[in-house]
Amino acid sequence: MRLWGARFSKDPDELAREFTQSLSFDQRLAEHDIAGSIAHVRMLGRCDVLTAEEVRELEAGLERVRVGLSSGDMTLDPASEDIHTEVERLLLECVGPLAGKLHTARSRNDQVALDLRLFLRDEIDALREYMVALQRTLLETAEQHLDTLMPGYTHLQRAQPILLAHYLMAYFFMLQRDRDRLAECRKRVNLCPLGAAALAGTTFRIDPAFVAEQLGFEGLCPNSMDAVSDRDFTLEFLADASVAAVHLSQLCAEIVLWSSSEFGFIRLDDAWCTGSSIMPQKRNPDAAELVRAKAGRVFGNLFRLLSTLKGLTLAYNRDLQEDKEALFDTVDTLGASLQVVTAMVATASFDTERMAQALAAGFPAATAVADYLVRAGISFREAHGIAGQIVNYCEKENTRFEQLSLEEWRSFSPEFGHDIVEHVSLAGCVAAKKSPGGTAPERVKEQIVQGRKLLAT
Ligand code: ARG
Repeated sequence: MRLWGARFSKDPDELAREFTQSLSFDQRLAEHDIAGSIAHVRMLGRCDVLTAEEVRELEAGLERVRVGLSSGDMTLDPASEDIHTEVERLLLECVGPLAGKLHTARSRNDQVALDLRLFLRDEIDALREYMVALQRTLLETAEQHLDTLMPGYTHLQRAQPILLAHYLMAYFFMLQRDRDRLAECRKRVNLCPLGAAALAGTTFRIDPAFVAEQLGFEGLCPNSMDAVSDRDFTLEFLADASVAAVHLSQLCAEIVLWSSSEFGFIRLDDAWCTGSSIMPQKRNPDAAELVRAKAGRVFGNLFRLLSTLKGLTLAYNRDLQEDKEALFDTVDTLGASLQVVTAMVATASFDTERMAQALAAGFPAATAVADYLVRAGISFREAHGIAGQIVNYCEKENTRFEQLSLEEWRSFSPEFGHDIVEHVSLAGCVAAKKSPGGTAPERVKEQIVQGRKLLAT
């Protein structure tokens, strides 16, 4: 069946048909297409375009198509152009020629925009739930590590001691923003384009607000040309998904690094490691590597659609059919990545001993030494220089801050007193970082409390 053809003298070329079809991928929109059609039919009844009897029959027919497709009792004809054609064909099988009335005051152009918006709205909700699950895992892991010290890095060089809980909560808040961004995006997705018809609206006295209400939309698209041609709501989603994919790739890059023998900070559960076909000793973090790589795929989908939309003239163009696979792929890729990272983190164990060793090997308290001198009245710049000389001395003498005598400290500055010992202890360094958002245990506990509240909303 085709939804057009009366003015054509022959069937489409087989290659043309295959090249232009979208059924192979847009069948994923079937549920939404039917939901949209049911709302449309009810609206046509209210507006006296269809009789109450016709509405009843069409609605029952659409319901049978929905059940038939989900149970597998009805099958799609792969020769059909798209899911809209297929739903109408199956409806024809159920209710006969009355099915021809379904498309009154509607076009596939507003129909496909509607389906996409319904689809994306659901998927955003599911993705936000996966984000919550990962946030919860990070927060619960952080709670178990409120006294685990580790080196914090800048330039991937040991910088200052931090709490492992502080590190984990950093990713928690990144995910919070990812979740918020999707909630923002959802507002612009959740507008109803139906009634735009092909591009200019329709001559029938329809009630789009009724359709919008039936389908849970927050409002109507204000311009019929815009409604059928823009996909900025999809672009926005693909961009937001790209930012989330960046965050996951960063977390996974650290998991890969930390699970190396060189770091040894984390041990992934066997269920999340893969062996080598040649090196029997290997435990590779393949899933983390793949999440890292899949970010590239998610960015690619954003660029696919940006490039498709660039320079398109108003209103609907068939180019828009290319929006779907990019969208589906990002939804699937991001959803899977979030679930994988959640399971991987939830089952991993942290080697706190290795973290402590890595911490002891550097001079992560050097900033604390400088801060100590500043409190005694020395300028930070000068204090920085003195602390640097002490690090140099320790390296030459192969010793550590904790082992220096008071005379040695004083040979660098008379301002050092006995209490310097507490200031250079690693736990002391961490405890002193009490500025808001800092790594002191009470500050990290505050972050966890704030995180709990965010999870509850
Ligand atoms: N398969 C088409 C798409 O995905 C549906 C809309 C078709 N509209 C048209 N005028 N040919 O965009």
